[in-house]
Amino acid sequence: MRSAIFLGAAALVAASPAPQALDFAAVHNAPAPTGPATNVASQAGVYNAAAASTSATAAVTAVASAPATAAEKRSLDKRTFCWWFWCPVQQNTAQSSSNGGSGYGQNSPQPTNTGYNTVPMSTAMSAPATTATTPVAASSPVPTSTGIVPSTCTPISWTNTFDPCAPQPDGYGPVAKPDTAAGFVADTSLHAIAKSAKDPQGYASTFKDLTAAVNANTYLGFDTLKSYDVASCAAKCDTINLCTSFNIYMERDPAWNGEQCSCPMPNSITNYKCSYWGSGVTPEAATNNGQTRGDGFQVVITGSNGYSKTNTTTPVTPPGCTKPTKCGAGGAVHDHPRTCIGQHFFPGPFDISLCANYAKAQNAKNVASGIWSKWLSFVGYNPSKCNFFNGFMIKENGVAKGTYCKLFAQQYEGSAATYQPGWQGSAHYEVESSWSFCM
Ligand SMILES: *[C@@H]1O[C@H](CO)[C@@H](O)[C@H](O)[C@H]1NC(C)=O
Repeated sequence: MRSAIFLGAAALVAASPAPQALDFAAVHNAPAPTGPATNVASQAGVYNAAAASTSATAAVTAVASAPATAAEKRSLDKRTFCWWFWCPVQQNTAQSSSNGGSGYGQNSPQPTNTGYNTVPMSTAMSAPATTATTPVAASSPVPTSTGIVPSTCTPISWTNTFDPCAPQPDGYGPVAKPDTAAGFVADTSLHAIAKSAKDPQGYASTFKDLTAAVNANTYLGFDTLKSYDVASCAAKCDTINLCTSFNIYMERDPAWNGEQCSCPMPNSITNYKCSYWGSGVTPEAATNNGQTRGDGFQVVITGSNGYSKTNTTTPVTPPGCTKPTKCGAGGAVHDHPRTCIGQHFFPGPFDISLCANYAKAQNAKNVASGIWSKWLSFVGYNPSKCNFFNGFMIKENGVAKGTYCKLFAQQYEGSAATYQPGWQGSAHYEVESSWSFCM
C-alpha cells in the first residue's frame, strides 16, 4: 500500500504542469473552425454540451497534485490570500474596500456587500444545456415559390436544397445592381443598412459594416432572417445555451444550386444571416469573405456587424460549485504555479461546466489513487484536492479558440488574477470571460 502511494507520488511529479503559465501549443493547434453551413436556412444544436462534458472528464489521465507542501502553503498564505478553510471576515471587508475583490474562505460567512453579490445575475444564461447529438439543418425543404429557377434548367425536380438546380433559401434582402460580387460589395444601400442599425439592448457593438462574416471555434448556429433585425437576433442569442455574441450580415447567395445543374451560373439572392457564438465576436474573427460555388458563382458578404455581451454575462454556476467571481476584471488569469494542480484547453465555446467536470474528475482520480488520503494528515491543505478553478476564453490573434481551465488546491480572490499572456512568439494571446469558482 505504502509503495503504491509512493509510486503515485512519483507519477504525479512527472505529470506536474510545465512552468509555462498556459499551454499555448494546445491553443494554437486547436482544430480549424467550421462556421455556418451552406445550402441551408438555419443550423442549431451545433454544440453538444453532453459530449463536451464527457470529454472534459476524459481529459484527466493521471493523478495530479500541486507542488506546494503544507508548510510551503502556510508561507504562501502570508504573502497571498488565506487558508482555504478559515478566512477572517475582516480580511474580506478590508480587501473589498481597497480593491473591489471578493475575498472569502470555504467556511467563512459570505460577506453581504462584496464583489460576488454585485455580479449582474440578471444576465446569467438560464437556457437548458443543449442535448442534440448532431447538428440539425433546420430548413432543408425547398421554398414553394415558383419561377426562381428557369424552366429550361435540368434536372427539373428536387427534394431538398442540396439537389442540383434546387432553389436556395430564403432571399429576403435586396439584390444589388449590378448583380455581381463586386456590385454587391460596393452597394451603398446595403452598407447603409448595417451602419444605421441600432445596438440591441444588453449588447455592445464590436464591429460594424465589414465585408466578412465571423468564423471561429465558438460557433453555435445561425438563422436566416426576413430583415436586418438586430433585436431579434439578440433575442434569439439570449435563448441559446452559452451564446454571448452574434454576427449579423448580408450574404450574396445563389438563387438555385448551380452545382451539377444545366444552368450553372444562377442569379443571386441576398440573405440576412445571423450567426451565434459562445464567445465575443471580434473584427479579427471576421475572416469568411465568402466562397466560390459550382462553376463560379461568388458568395460574398457585406454589412457585417458584431455584438457581444461577454462583459455582462455571468456563467451559470455548475452543480457543486459556488461563488462565481470575475478574475482580474474578466481579462486576467490566476497564475499560481505552486498551488496549481493542472490545466487543460478545450476548443469550442466558453463553457465553464467543462472546467467543473475536469476538476471533479481530477479529484475523483486522486481519491481513487489513494494519494488523497495520504495528504489528509496535513491539516487544512491537500495539494491533491482541487477546491478552486479558473475558466476563461482564450483568444489567439483576436480570435476566440476555446475554454481554458486551471485547477488549484487553494482559493484566491479575483484581484489575485493578474496574468495576461500577451505575445508568445509570433502570436498574441488574450483572455476574455475569466471566472473562478469554489468547489
Ligand atoms: C469588455 O471589457 C474589456 C475590458 O474593460 C474591454 O476592453 C472590452 O472592449 C469590453 N468588450 C465589450 C464587448 O464591451
